[in-house]
Amino acid sequence: MKVIAVMNYKGGVGKTTLTANLGAEIAHRGHRVLLLDLDPQANLTFSFYSVEQWREELRKDLTIMRWYEGDLPGREVALQDLVVTPPVVNAELADSGGRLDLISSHLRLIDMDLRLAARLGGGTTIGESKRKFLDLHGSLARALRHDAFREYDLVLIDCPPNFGLITKTAIVASDHVLVPAKADYLSTLGIQYLAGNCHELVAEYNDYVNHGASAGGEKTIETRFVGVVFTMVKYYAGQPIGTQKYYIEDVRLNSEMNVLDGAVRDSPRYFGDAGESGVPAILRAPVTDEVVVEFRKLTTEILDKVGERAA
Ligand SMILES: Nc1ncnc2c1ncn2[C@@H]1O[C@H](COP(=O)(O)OP(=O)(O)O)[C@@H](O)[C@H]1O
Ligand SMILES: [Mg+2]
Repeated sequence: MKVIAVMNYKGGVGKTTLTANLGAEIAHRGHRVLLLDLDPQANLTFSFYSVEQWREELRKDLTIMRWYEGDLPGREVALQDLVVTPPVVNAELADSGGRLDLISSHLRLIDMDLRLAARLGGGTTIGESKRKFLDLHGSLARALRHDAFREYDLVLIDCPPNFGLITKTAIVASDHVLVPAKADYLSTLGIQYLAGNCHELVAEYNDYVNHGASAGGEKTIETRFVGVVFTMVKYYAGQPIGTQKYYIEDVRLNSEMNVLDGAVRDSPRYFGDAGESGVPAILRAPVTDEVVVEFRKLTTEILDKVGERAA
């Protein structure tokens, strides 16, 4: 099982659209994929469930909110008990042998970062503080190591657009970080900063593990960047249009992060509806369409990079 965190500090960069379609495409290749929605905006959740369905079936007991509640994540409920199988998309996947599962988000998750941060305090010794740090930051990683998750080939985490505690639990739990970005000033601005923050978190976590603060058997982590995927790319004569090309080159030259060869084309027709139908565009669009052809190549590139060969 590989875990990929999908993140960018900027909202509206196509993070959720990429996560939903990537999950659907990989499941369509016969894999078992788990999507984990950690964004309080819950757009990934609403790509597979209507708001009414979510309210009636998921809101009370079946969201990640319940897992983060309590004095330590996972005390109230086990992560595996929150997994749901969205019916509409899985009906579409029936012949593929794959499956797309989800742990849904909750709009109230927005308050959770502060509550989690409060739990970090109060250690009376440095050793105790470090143990709290590892307990909390490593909580999602620990939960995903449970046998119940062994059936999945891939877990994709849609992170909130910040570097709060919830995002940090996701980074610690992930083998890889994938960064979708629009090719514009504001979306590319934070990429180097994001890379730096990830490095710092991994270094601090590993330092505490190496210096014996770990009580729960935590191991050192090695979170790698898959790279930057440009989204909503507009082409003219086979090339990204001028301003976009400039920002793509800028990231290529000035960021330590690799820019993937593949990109997601701007297609309001396919990607503009934010998944209201319950089935991501990649499973609905004609297979000969260039949007689909390109997206499939991108998927293969990402799977190759994380070492999970396409089925
Ligand atoms: N490749 C694309 N082409 C056209 N519209 C897109 C594309 N990707 C995303 N969108 C649209 O842009 C908006 C923001 O995308 P979303 O995936 O929700 O971003 P984020 O999760 O980063 O906030 C949504 O309305 C979505 O439908
Ligand atoms: Mg989103």
